[in-house]
Amino acid sequence: MKKLLHILSEEMGKAFEAAGYDSTLGRVTISNRPDLCEYQCNGAMAGAKQYKKAPIAIASDVAEQLKGSSVFSEAAAVAPGFLNLKLSEEYLLQIVKTMAAEPKFGLEPPERSKKIMIDYGGANVAKPLHVGHIRSAVIGESVKRICRYAGHEVIGDVHLGDWGLQMGLVITGLQDRQPDLEYFDENYQGEYPKEAPFTISELEEIYPAASAKSKEDPEYKARAMEATFKLQSGVRGYRALWKHILNVSVMDLKKNYGSLNVEFDLWKGESDVHDLIPEMVAYMKDNGYAHISEGALVVDVKEETDTKEIPPCMILKSDGASLYNTTDLATIMERMRLYHPDQIIYVVDKRQDLYFEQVFRCARKTKLVEPETELKFLGFGTMNGSDGKPFKTRDGGVMRLENLIRETKDEMYKKIREGRQMSEEEARQVAEQVAVSALKYGDLSNQASKDYVFDIDRFTSFEGDTGPYILYTIVRIKSILGKFAEQGGSLENLALLPAGNETEKALEMALVQFNTMLQSAAEETAPHKVCAYIYDLANAFNHFYHETKILGEEDAKRRESLIALLVLTRDVLETCIDVLGFSAPEKM
Ligand code: ARG
Repeated sequence: MKKLLHILSEEMGKAFEAAGYDSTLGRVTISNRPDLCEYQCNGAMAGAKQYKKAPIAIASDVAEQLKGSSVFSEAAAVAPGFLNLKLSEEYLLQIVKTMAAEPKFGLEPPERSKKIMIDYGGANVAKPLHVGHIRSAVIGESVKRICRYAGHEVIGDVHLGDWGLQMGLVITGLQDRQPDLEYFDENYQGEYPKEAPFTISELEEIYPAASAKSKEDPEYKARAMEATFKLQSGVRGYRALWKHILNVSVMDLKKNYGSLNVEFDLWKGESDVHDLIPEMVAYMKDNGYAHISEGALVVDVKEETDTKEIPPCMILKSDGASLYNTTDLATIMERMRLYHPDQIIYVVDKRQDLYFEQVFRCARKTKLVEPETELKFLGFGTMNGSDGKPFKTRDGGVMRLENLIRETKDEMYKKIREGRQMSEEEARQVAEQVAVSALKYGDLSNQASKDYVFDIDRFTSFEGDTGPYILYTIVRIKSILGKFAEQGGSLENLALLPAGNETEKALEMALVQFNTMLQSAAEETAPHKVCAYIYDLANAFNHFYHETKILGEEDAKRRESLIALLVLTRDVLETCIDVLGFSAPEKM
């Protein structure tokens, strides 16, 4: 189905042409004076010079052509030359009907369906997830779902940090705790146990302790680096121990991500490309892309047009060790080989933007990707506390994602118990679901690149631009539909009638923006556009609800039509929250 503004502009273009003017002047936009009109066209002002005529004269000529239009019920030329427009209710009804009948509410498939890989999550093994990881997971998951809905093939990869010094630190920490483990015995020939010699909570204790110690104690740090080296060069016991760390950690990560409705198609990590590095390095050397600088192997990536200094991309350190860059480049090489994506999107803290600029330039220059492969950095801002600084726990520590989720659930539970008739168990369940909407919507409703303040009171409120408000609206609709069904009404084959009042028309006008909105949310990888749309839609619905008798409507045909509109509103809202990555309960 064509986009509404496109249809309206075409219609307007015809009127310009019929009045003897250029049809391209007929561009229609949403009114910036909603008190005066629904849509407007400023083409007469734009054409004044070309036709050496007063804009109002042109606007009047065009308005004359629109008398009796089936699309516009009103087209008024007003000084100094605007065309103020209202949509005909009958015409709007046709569009609503088309939207309801077509797959995906009239969203057309993309001109070219792309294969997109999304690199998001980015958790580090053996380190608990902290709030900095929440944004990557939440935004990435939504971008994945939006692009998929828009008709692209999308693969989400968690890209674990599972290969660097942090692994050596954990191994060293473990060795101090349990020096007699067979994993550390070089002469051990047998099979290693299937069970990990630690639990997730032990693992989470070991890492911070080892990391702190390595900062004070150079000898300890040297041991950790040695352990990292042994692991990476394939020492059997170290590899076996690492597998345990990975398994225990991934199980825990899956649980945490799962509680946020975040699912990855691929659970790959930095370690997966370890074996590709020698080949990649040789390729870069042989083709003259890389050269030695102060002992390190680097690729120059600066360009003449740069306004700031872009340092070379370092591929190997002078001791031959690989870096974060190295695994990212090797991962690009692997992704091109295994999946051949048209685009790779990285959802990472925006403070890594210079780093990704280097990596992308290096990948292009060394032809790891094709000229038409798109590499996109979707950098996000920081989640701050009310003091405007990165969010911390009350005692100033790093807030763990798990605790943040728990606190939000507890707060939501309190609010749900207040003044509601619900058993404790039911309230707990509902609170979990609503809390996910509070966290995710609180994050996604901001443009990703901006910092935002995490405000638990505001995010969990049932009023205002929040997840719970959206869910509350959906639940309200479901409850009316439930009552209608209880009274013997059927939700099948309901005929829509033209809007009966202004709020109903406004609801329909909000609904029919869906295809335009979703397409731009996908093209711009912008979940906040979906949030803005559903906030407007929920507001339009609630105004309509307050102004309109629905179940009490006596005319059966009209009642059915209202119900049909409710069904469509519910379906559109539920589709939108699904692409945002949360869902609505039946009651709340
Ligand atoms: N593990 C990294 C971190 O915690 C994020 C990884 C981002 N993705 C990537 N391909 N570099 O900062």
